[in-house]
Amino acid sequence: MDAFPYNQGELCAEAVKLGDLATAYGTPLYVYSRTRLLGNYRAYADAFGARATICYAVKANPNGAILGELAKAGAGADVVSGGEMARAHRAGVAPDKIVFAGVGKTADELRAGLALGIRQFNVESLAELRLLADIAAQMGRIAPLVLRINPDVHAPTHAKIATGKKDNKFGLPKSEWRPAIQFLLDNRHLRLRGLGMHIGSQLLTLDPFAQAYAVLRAHLVELRAVGFAIDTVDLGGGIGIVYQAGQVQPDLMALAALAQQHLGDLDLHWILEPGRSIIGDAGILLTRVISRKHNGEKDFLVVDAAMNDLLRPTLYQAYHHILPVKAMGDAAAWPLGDLVGPVCETGDYLAQDRPLPPAHSGDLLAIMGAGAYGASMASTYNSRPLVAEAMVDGARHGLIRRRQQLADLWADEMAWA
Ligand code: LLP
Repeated sequence: MDAFPYNQGELCAEAVKLGDLATAYGTPLYVYSRTRLLGNYRAYADAFGARATICYAVKANPNGAILGELAKAGAGADVVSGGEMARAHRAGVAPDKIVFAGVGKTADELRAGLALGIRQFNVESLAELRLLADIAAQMGRIAPLVLRINPDVHAPTHAKIATGKKDNKFGLPKSEWRPAIQFLLDNRHLRLRGLGMHIGSQLLTLDPFAQAYAVLRAHLVELRAVGFAIDTVDLGGGIGIVYQAGQVQPDLMALAALAQQHLGDLDLHWILEPGRSIIGDAGILLTRVISRKHNGEKDFLVVDAAMNDLLRPTLYQAYHHILPVKAMGDAAAWPLGDLVGPVCETGDYLAQDRPLPPAHSGDLLAIMGAGAYGASMASTYNSRPLVAEAMVDGARHGLIRRRQQLADLWADEMAWA
């Protein structure tokens, strides 16, 4: 299903005109398609079946309504902070479907995870193993965990979001593998459930997964040989989405078949941690044109959304497709320009040197593929309130986050006394 179709020349979210949403809730506005969100989740659930738990990566978009809809559909959560863990739990994700990943969990976060009774900690170093063991002993608990290994595979993506090479900060260092196994054998407050990995994000080919699964397999077999009663393998997230013409999203059935081929006979429960491929193409950022500007050689379209609302273009040189809400003819005839926001930085752009709709002040534009790592990476830089978020389901719509008020900007500040 096309979540954002043109109907009679006007771009819609499902059956709702984006123009109506702009009128009701103002701009800039994040808009999510509930049908697409749940469809994306179901595609994973169907491909992987009962042998897997799909733990949505909360970092992609932590809105409570999104988490709540996914939880109702049966999803678990992959969290990387005490804040994400609390959000997931509050939104209805069962603790035994929460996995806690991340390279720097604090003692307080480990304690909170143990108290909540989460499914597993994804541990990334010997130091973390020791800390977790101490805390579990203090609390009289047994901490369930998987070790996140670093399979050292090349995953072609932007350097800032590749995680699976040995010189990234992620995963258990090779030199700590044996000491970690010995520590686990000796410690009765830790229960090793298996292994995990995550090799990078926005991956559009399955090849790196195949290589990483093979590495995982060898390590899992070794653990069984040593005598660990393992039951879990965490395959991470990282499946990419189509941001741009010519890209093709990997087939989830093929991914599941690959996992089956490499790991199927081990009879383990699989965890997946997809974020972007659940919410990315289910969301857009709706923005209104403030003005057109011509400076030197260049044309600029100045809109009311900016880098603080959607950081990806300037941080990762990421491409997001731009569509006019009122159809504006053939894109091939559009003039080249930059789509920029009002923030006082040259890096404040949403698109650069691209054919842009011949729009004028007051026109609405949609920045596509903004559901993941959009709202979740937003800031109030330049004292711009966080934007509102709306959800659409068929012809129904509603806010799932109100627009911040100016007073929210300084609500936590204190006068110097
Ligand atoms: N699991 C772990 C351990 C991760 O580090 C990540 C993402 C995921 C799962 C989810 O990956 P996904 O399925 O969403 O690719 N801000 C960047 C992406 C950072 C991804 C960080 N880790 C962006 O906007 O492209």
